[in-house]
Amino acid sequence: MIATHNAKKGVEMATILGHRFPDIEFKTLADYPGAPEPEETGDTYAENATIKAQSASVFTHEWSVADDAGLEIDAMPGLLGVHSKRFGGEELPFYEKMAMILQQLHGLPDSERGARFKCFVALAAPDAQEIHVFSAEREGVIAQAPSGSGGFGYDPIFWLPEMGCTMADLTPDQKHAVSHRGKVLKAVGDWIGARVPEGATP
Ligand code: IMP
Repeated sequence: MIATHNAKKGVEMATILGHRFPDIEFKTLADYPGAPEPEETGDTYAENATIKAQSASVFTHEWSVADDAGLEIDAMPGLLGVHSKRFGGEELPFYEKMAMILQQLHGLPDSERGARFKCFVALAAPDAQEIHVFSAEREGVIAQAPSGSGGFGYDPIFWLPEMGCTMADLTPDQKHAVSHRGKVLKAVGDWIGARVPEGATP
């Protein structure tokens, strides 16, 4: 099951894993009323992903996968990263968080707007009997202005130079083909595929 209370992230993860394993039904925490939403108290993405996967696997007694992601901006060291969700205050709408970032980077050329999304995924066996952590990142540049309505979070200001658009300008399948989450879930899929016999449900 996919351990997230973030609906858009849940759809991304279910879509990516669903393409890879069409015979497996991927549930999310929404299918488990009363599932706890643990505090993300870790100092690292790996710790937070582990906290979420562990909690879900203990509650559901099923294999559980959780991710923790963040945006790192070279010109704003330490300000987002593992705290990306809380930047400017957890309740601040994303268009305002993005406006704050664009304001801070105002006047900087593309060569000084380097950034990357990092994504860590923890895969927990039922009742957290074993935990495996995977990671991937995606390099980009903070755009001069937001663009696009796809994806979620900071996607509208994450410019992909080689594609000439932002992450939010991509269709879901295009995003998954190049994103940090698509890449790390491919590694998770490879791990599951190598371990689980064809047709079995993890
Ligand atoms: P968390 O993993 O839910 O804690 O996410 C951390 C922050 O990064 C949140 O504010 C997310 O909206 C943002 N974020 C995570 N993944 C993505 C992504 O794929 N695109 C844009 N923003 C993201």
